[in-house]
Amino acid sequence: MGLLFSKIWAQLMSCQEMKILMLGLDAAGKTTILYRLKLGEVVTTIPTVGFNVEMVEYKNINFTVWDVGGQDKIRKLWRYYFEGTDALIYVVDSSDRQRIGEAKEELERMLQEEELKNAALLVLANKQDLPNAMTPAEVMEALELQKLRHRKWFIQSTVAPTGDGLYEGLDWLSRCLSSR
Ligand code: GTP
Ligand code: MG
Repeated sequence: MGLLFSKIWAQLMSCQEMKILMLGLDAAGKTTILYRLKLGEVVTTIPTVGFNVEMVEYKNINFTVWDVGGQDKIRKLWRYYFEGTDALIYVVDSSDRQRIGEAKEELERMLQEEELKNAALLVLANKQDLPNAMTPAEVMEALELQKLRHRKWFIQSTVAPTGDGLYEGLDWLSRCLSSR
């Protein structure tokens, strides 16, 4: 009984750490998501050249979230952030039907990388407020997530400016971490 209690106490007191890498095509909504989580408000963003990094504490987990710019010319820099990644958040602009193929190719390429072999994958089907947005099921199919093997993955619909869906995404990540 004493042992059980001390185990529970240790779990309650210890804050776990999780390195999150947030990637996706330019204008998908990554920076908006990062600051919505960090500050609880909408910031006016400009395209990220380089990265932003913030600590977000949720459910006794310290998420270190790296938000890296997604413009075509700087995507080759993504790989410098892979090391030690526990989970990848892949943000998709669900209203951008023209570039969903490109989003799929970038994701596919990344998931082949050895350094991301054990990373969980959370796909955020963002911009659900826009008319003509693809549903999460459509995004899932377009990215061919159902074909993934040996990978924990989850798709969540989000609206970054209102924060809708963001904490459901973090909930899934926290469950991933505690099941390891
Ligand atoms: P890069 O830094 O270039 O990689 O882009 P990003 O993924 O960081 O995109 P950013 O957060 O800068 O958002 C791009 C634009 O989309 C901004 O004008 C945001 O306000 C807008 N945006 C982000 N999320 C949503 C959303 O859920 N709905 C709508 N309507 N607009 C959004
Ligand atoms: Mg950005």
